[in-house]
Amino acid sequence: MEPLRILGIETSCDETAAAVVLRHPDGRGEILGDVVLSQLDEHSPYGGVVPEIAARAHVDALDGLIREALARADLPLSGVDAIAATSGPGLIGGLIVGLMTGKAMARAAGKPLYAVNHLEGHALTARLTDGLTFPYLMLLVSGGHTQLVLVRGVGDYVRWGTTIDDALGEAFDKTAKLLGLPYPGGPAVEAAALSGDPKRFAFPRPMVGETRLDFSFSGLKTAVRQAAEGLQPVSEQDVSDIAASFQRAVSRTLEERIGRGLQRFRDEFPAFEGRPALVVAGGVAANKALRQTLLDLCAKNGFDFVAPPIRLCTDNAVMIAWAGLERMAAGLPADPLDVQPRSRWP
Ligand code: KG4
Ligand code: ZN
Repeated sequence: MEPLRILGIETSCDETAAAVVLRHPDGRGEILGDVVLSQLDEHSPYGGVVPEIAARAHVDALDGLIREALARADLPLSGVDAIAATSGPGLIGGLIVGLMTGKAMARAAGKPLYAVNHLEGHALTARLTDGLTFPYLMLLVSGGHTQLVLVRGVGDYVRWGTTIDDALGEAFDKTAKLLGLPYPGGPAVEAAALSGDPKRFAFPRPMVGETRLDFSFSGLKTAVRQAAEGLQPVSEQDVSDIAASFQRAVSRTLEERIGRGLQRFRDEFPAFEGRPALVVAGGVAANKALRQTLLDLCAKNGFDFVAPPIRLCTDNAVMIAWAGLERMAAGLPADPLDVQPRSRWP
C-alpha cells in the first residue's frame, strides 16, 4: 500500500481547524500540517458559544487555515489523496461551512471526500498518537459530550454510557457561572479548587451504584447553586471550597462509573491478551485532578491510561483527517458529494 495523504477540515463547534496528515504503509501516522483557530475571544463575552457568530467566524477563517495547513505540509492541493470534513454532530451553521468547503475542493481537485463523524475522530485519535489496537475503551468528556464508548474497529463503536442531562464540560461551565468565575469554566473551576477544601460540601454523586453506565450532572449543578445561595455573601474561600467539593464529587463519580466500565470490558473480553486501554478525549480531559483519578483507577485495574496531548484531545482537524485515513486504509468507500451535514449524529 502507498502512503496516503489527506486534508482534514473541522468546523463543528467553536474551533476552526485544518490539517494535513500522512499515513505510512505500516499504519503509522504523521502530522504534516496542523492549524487551529479558537473563537474563544468572540464567544466569551456571551458566556458560551453563539452559533451564528461561530458560523460566520468559520467562513472568515477557514480558507486561510486550509492554505496554511497545506503550506506547512509543503503540498499543493493536488498532492493530497483525499479530503475529510466533519459532517456532524455539531452546530449546523459551522458544519455547513466545513462540509461545503470540503465538497467544493474535492470536486475541483477530483479527490474523494470523506464525511467524518466528529466523535469518530475523537475515538480514533489514540491510534495515531499511541498506535493502539482494537478493542479499547474511550471516555469522551467535552462541552457537548459525555460518553463511554467501546471502540471495536473503524466504523464499529458501541456506546456503553452517555449523559442523561448535562455534559460534564457543561457542568463545569455552569458551576463556574454560578460561582462568578469566567468562561470557559473548566480551567477556572480547576484553578479555584486548588486552594479549596474538597470535604466542606458533601455534593451528590449522581448515578453511582446504577448498573447501566450512564452519567447525570444536572443534580450536582443544582446542589452547587443551593450551596452558593446558602452563603450570601460568598467569599473567595467559599468559591474555592465549592469548586474543590464539586471536583471531588465529579472525580468520585467518574471513578465509580468508569470502574464499572473497566469491569464490563473484562467480562466481555475474558481472553484479552496484554493490558487493555482506556483513552480519554475532550476538553475536560485537560483537568489534572480528573486525569489523576483515572490514571489511578486504570493502574488498579491493570489498564493502560492513554491521554493524547491536550491539543489532540480538544477539537482539531488532525483527528478528522486521521479518521478519513483510517477509512481509506480499511477500504471503506468515500462519500457521495451530496452527503448532508447532520447536527445530531450519535
Ligand atoms: O473538547 P472541548 O474543547 O470543546 C467541545 O466541547 O467540543 O471542551 C470544552 C469543554 C468546556 O466545557 C470546558 O469548560 C472544559 O472542556 N474544560 C475543562 C478544563 N479545560 C476545559 N473542564 C475541566 N477542567 C479543565 N481543566
Ligand atoms: Zn469534540
